[in-house]
Amino acid sequence: MNLKIAVLPGDGIGPEIMNVAVDVVKAVCKKFDHQLQYETALVGACAIDATGSPYPEETHKLCMESDAVLFGAIGSPKYDNDPSAKVRPEQGLLAMRKQLGLFANIRPVTTFHNLIHKSPLRADLVDGADFMCIRELTGGLYFGRPQGRSEDGNTAYDTCVYSRYEIERIVRLAYDYARRRRKKVSVVDKANILATSRLWREVAKEIAADYPDVTTEFLYVDNAAMRMIQWPKDFDVLVTENMFGDILTDEGSVITGSLGMLPSASVGVHTSVFEPIHGSYPQAAGKDIANPLATVLSAAMMLEYSFDLKAEAELIRQAVNASMEAEVVTEDIANKGAKAFHTSEVGKWLVDYIEKA
Ligand code: IPM
Ligand code: MN
Repeated sequence: MNLKIAVLPGDGIGPEIMNVAVDVVKAVCKKFDHQLQYETALVGACAIDATGSPYPEETHKLCMESDAVLFGAIGSPKYDNDPSAKVRPEQGLLAMRKQLGLFANIRPVTTFHNLIHKSPLRADLVDGADFMCIRELTGGLYFGRPQGRSEDGNTAYDTCVYSRYEIERIVRLAYDYARRRRKKVSVVDKANILATSRLWREVAKEIAADYPDVTTEFLYVDNAAMRMIQWPKDFDVLVTENMFGDILTDEGSVITGSLGMLPSASVGVHTSVFEPIHGSYPQAAGKDIANPLATVLSAAMMLEYSFDLKAEAELIRQAVNASMEAEVVTEDIANKGAKAFHTSEVGKWLVDYIEKA
């Protein structure tokens, strides 16, 4: 197997967590005798600084010719605090999603038994919760035009647009996942208010008819937000449009106890991208303290989803669980009074575990 991985560390803690993830993938590939090639490219604030563009043409070319993309994080306070900035790191992420046709963002929400005490929810509500958020990623308010300001600057507008084919492909993907899981799909919209949501519901109903073995529920987004903290165990596969999905997946990520643990996959027309769901955490950049586990688990998703390397992915997950049991973890998930380990120390421990497995 000769595969090429585009490595895009990005900004902030991106490079540190990416080093760990790449070391872990290398260790696993050595063990299973796979040859992988890695090539690094710029994205985000570091790309703006170097080239003027947050997603340079060269980076896009590398992504297109690779078999998968491993992505760290982007964002920098330098741009956040400058309202006059013409280009922003986040535009790099949006450009990458659009140009690679990444219409589906898959965020599994799983709990880690020994992290449950860190959840803001009562342990009995959240222990065992296991659902998958499928967020549409290339449509809706994020990309709809027109977007802008009136001439006098006192009125602003965004446009939410969805076409039937955009809804169909993401909803179908959700049903295909549900079939391999607990066979329930929650379609989340605001059909009592929005025309786009009414089209979503119409299309989802048609697709549901093709999956009689899967149960469908329709939820308004406000109600879904409430239910997610009230009965998180009720969800199996949740599918929704871009902006609702952005909001709900942040909510979903913290109920498990730590934002630093959850991976994601973005899939679509061209190369798939795997990334942690957390951001670039600029305050921690260069300190070797950030939690690398979400990126490591994203790499496991990459091996499984893009290359069908299930045993390899499983070994990575096993290593992650073992590191938590051994309490070789970073400060965000360390127990009170226990020693917190550095990012690179966690990485070394994982590699060592894999080598000895
Ligand atoms: C995410 C992020 C991005 C989004 C930002 C950084 C553009 O919040 O991946 O969820 O809003 O989609
Ligand atoms: Mn978000």
